[in-house]
Amino acid sequence: MAFWALLSWISFLLLCIHYLVSFLFRIPDRRKLPPGPIGLPIIGNLLSIGNKPHESLAGLAMKFGPLMSLRMGFATVVVASSARMAKEILQTKDKEFAGRFIPDAVTVQANYELSMAWLSPGPCWRNLRRLCNTQMFTSQRLDALQGLRNQKMEELLKNIEPFSLSGEAVNVSQLAFATVLNLVSNTVFSVDLVDFRSESAQEFKNVVWRIMKYAGKPNISDCFPQIKSFDLHGIRRHIKVSYDHLHRLIDDFIDQRLETRESGAPRKNDFLDVLLDHCKEDGSNFDRRYVKILITDLYIAGGDTTATTFEWTMTELLRHPNTMEKVQRELREVIGAEQSVEECHIPQLPYLEAVVKEALRLHPTVPLLLPHRTESDVELCGYFIPKHTQVLVNAWAISRDADYWEKPTNFMPERFLGSDADYRGQDFGFIPFGSGRRICPGLPLAVRMVHLMLASLLHSFSWKLPDGMKPETVDMDAKFGVTLQKTVPLLAIPSKRIVVTDIGTTMY
Ligand code: HEM
Repeated sequence: MAFWALLSWISFLLLCIHYLVSFLFRIPDRRKLPPGPIGLPIIGNLLSIGNKPHESLAGLAMKFGPLMSLRMGFATVVVASSARMAKEILQTKDKEFAGRFIPDAVTVQANYELSMAWLSPGPCWRNLRRLCNTQMFTSQRLDALQGLRNQKMEELLKNIEPFSLSGEAVNVSQLAFATVLNLVSNTVFSVDLVDFRSESAQEFKNVVWRIMKYAGKPNISDCFPQIKSFDLHGIRRHIKVSYDHLHRLIDDFIDQRLETRESGAPRKNDFLDVLLDHCKEDGSNFDRRYVKILITDLYIAGGDTTATTFEWTMTELLRHPNTMEKVQRELREVIGAEQSVEECHIPQLPYLEAVVKEALRLHPTVPLLLPHRTESDVELCGYFIPKHTQVLVNAWAISRDADYWEKPTNFMPERFLGSDADYRGQDFGFIPFGSGRRICPGLPLAVRMVHLMLASLLHSFSWKLPDGMKPETVDMDAKFGVTLQKTVPLLAIPSKRIVVTDIGTTMY
């Protein structure tokens, strides 16, 4: 052990010396990388990044332009920060840029190399995407499972009722996360995963958040791969516990389903049935390992992102009571007091849709998308980007770009009314789900869940901030993981809007 540690240190030292020498006696490369800040020897620009990389990178882009390159230790990272550059990378040269840079942290997950999120494009990744696009996230499949989600929302509203009677504040972050997990797990497994007020909901949120936090955290191992076995930040150690926890849980669900399928019980026709059917197809090498890792991906990629989007949207509405009132007016006019909100109402709620778009524009929950990687040497706007370079697209900076958006930091849902601007990957100034081959496959489910949760909660309850808190004093700080979460969870007090009296149902 000591011998290997010594050997690693010696190789690291030799590499440092090699790097220092080549830094001092550089031969200018005519194939030019995009411009960027001059870095220090060995560590490069590591100190310029800080704990909010999306913000530091946006600041650097003001100085060095919308396409820049940085050196993170021994790794070169190219960053795009404008709609035009995003279009070049995600549309014009999509194929060349569709690879994935795999953070060291995620490699501790058993069978990570089968994960759709981390695979580079190839037959295996294409098969998984095809499965998602043609059998899981289709309108037909999502429509077939919407009854379960509507039912989950009814239960959620019942859970909120005691708060509205006691005047106690609800932890919106916890509520959103538990609800999304149950919406996702009902779509995948037809079961609830957590009880909304239970400790387990919070525990599960922590498991997923820890994965997001450690996978997104700047990691010295990614900058100096030669020393990754030392795990200097302890990231591998921490993240492994969370992955193992999630895998055990998913294994249990798969075992139970295999038993019920063998017993001849009626099919659920949920995502798990689709995946287990796929395992049985002739000539398919798709097996239980793929099923487990794909479901893990869906929880990790779908849970936190959707819940966080919901929390930011509620936060903006509580900071803008007039906008909340307008959404509630629309709900009153379209749905009325007699019926409850269902997914099928969503297309009739354009103002609500504009509110969600505006919240996603200001708070794209995956601010740097997932890290892309070049699949070959690429020429981009006259610059040379070598094969296997990490490429970040700063969706956060792009959707706050003053050259593209009027008053970019203001919350103004009206900007989306009567506009074609959309998050489905065609408008490169607004790419919260990415675009091109790597666009989020869960978008159709995510959009349904966020709208359904918002519409249901705002239809049944009015919401106000806890006593003493003013809209302008709500804490808007965000902590960076793969996702951008609110640092201070949102608390809000509900009061019932629909009251049933002897003379009928009234809505306030
Ligand atoms: C509001 C909620 C969501 C947002 C903002 C979001 C955003 C994103 C973004 C930005 C990416 C990376 C795109 C890129 O690298 O270019 C992504 C990838 C992904 N998302 Fe989502 N997502 C959300 C919800 C979901 C849901 C509900 C699911 C599934 C249940 C999901 C599954 C995935 C998967 C599996 C990937 C990796 C795809 C690949 O690499 O090929 N996401 N998402």
